[in-house]
Amino acid sequence: MAGVTDRPFRQLCRRLGAGYAVSEMVASDPRLFDSAKTRRRTDHAGEPAPIAVQIAGSDPARLAEAARHNVARGAQIIDINMGCPAKKVCNAAAGSALLADEPLVASILDAVVRAVDVPVTLKIRTGPDPAHRNALSIAGIAQSAGVAALTVHGRTRACMFTGPVEYETIAAVKAAVAIPVIANGDIDSPERARDVLAFTGADAVMIGRAAQGRPWIFREIGHFLATGRRLAPPTVDEARELILAHLEDHYAFHGEAQGVRIARKHLGWYTRDLAGGDAARAAFNAAETATAQVAAVHRLFETLAGLGDRLQYTTGAGSAGVWTPRPAKGDAAARAALRGTRARRPAAAPWAGEALAA
Ligand SMILES: Cc1cc2nc3c(=O)[nH]c(=O)nc-3n(C[C@H](O)[C@H](O)[C@H](O)COP(=O)(O)O)c2cc1C
Repeated sequence: MAGVTDRPFRQLCRRLGAGYAVSEMVASDPRLFDSAKTRRRTDHAGEPAPIAVQIAGSDPARLAEAARHNVARGAQIIDINMGCPAKKVCNAAAGSALLADEPLVASILDAVVRAVDVPVTLKIRTGPDPAHRNALSIAGIAQSAGVAALTVHGRTRACMFTGPVEYETIAAVKAAVAIPVIANGDIDSPERARDVLAFTGADAVMIGRAAQGRPWIFREIGHFLATGRRLAPPTVDEARELILAHLEDHYAFHGEAQGVRIARKHLGWYTRDLAGGDAARAAFNAAETATAQVAAVHRLFETLAGLGDRLQYTTGAGSAGVWTPRPAKGDAAARAALRGTRARRPAAAPWAGEALAA
């Protein structure tokens, strides 16, 4: 995620159970290879394998060159972005705008797969808009081109981040290709991860926004899938240590001035819905130095420690704000519905249309 999954955050997610974490997207324009932003985005020092770098662009030759450039800088997997609806990316006919031009998709995939000897993966949406859902066709093109795995965010480009996720389209893609398929979109709890895996048959799930302010969601999902039981939220002491360690890496990576500014959003996510969060956020945002920001974290956690051993959310929603545990009754109904319709998938997943807090 651009602006979120920098190296410190990726490393934190990996330590907390993510099996895999992809870099922020890197431009394919060679003029930008030496920009400070691109150099920072391609700095993988100390990052655990596999190092996966996402590239964005629309010109096959340039994307091939970008892939080679990133492999030379340590990338062990190249991911191609055909999922981002951002204007900045789509105006240049890149990101998810590419989905409307299947011959161009084929040329890009062909060029990039030939350019490097590491696995090339692809991230897509379900199509350009609801009238043109071509994920199946794109998946076939990807498989033929030698793409190693496909991540599907179950919305069209036009849908941006609104409306229900089309888990049924992801299931259809999974059924149609032999390469691994990773399901993505609105997965914000261990129960949702389990249900999406069961419904789509996907090989893995990818978590985006729900990891913001809640990087421990990865171990929570892993534990739940392995045992069927929920893992307790971190203790107040552990959360404080994790956040302080994140900040230390973050300031070292971005430098103090920029680091303090960028840290405000992470601290905002960490403290959303936490008792005392409002006052703490005001202090994080006012802080001009790392020392002042860290002191504000300590003050918040001293208050939290007085409230109990574990993190307590005022709304019960979880720090990412998109985490809405499904009621046990709903889960049972969804699982029963899935069992009954396994052979013939329902037109929409049982939870489609369910309101999310996001
Ligand atoms: C702030 C932000 C930045 C994103 N940047 C990228 C990106 O650079 N590349 C990409 O493939 N997807 C990007 N995405 C999309 C996410 O990877 C993901 O597909 C989407 O948020 C749906 O998953 P979620 O519901 O788990 O967040 C971004 C999403 C957000 C919110």
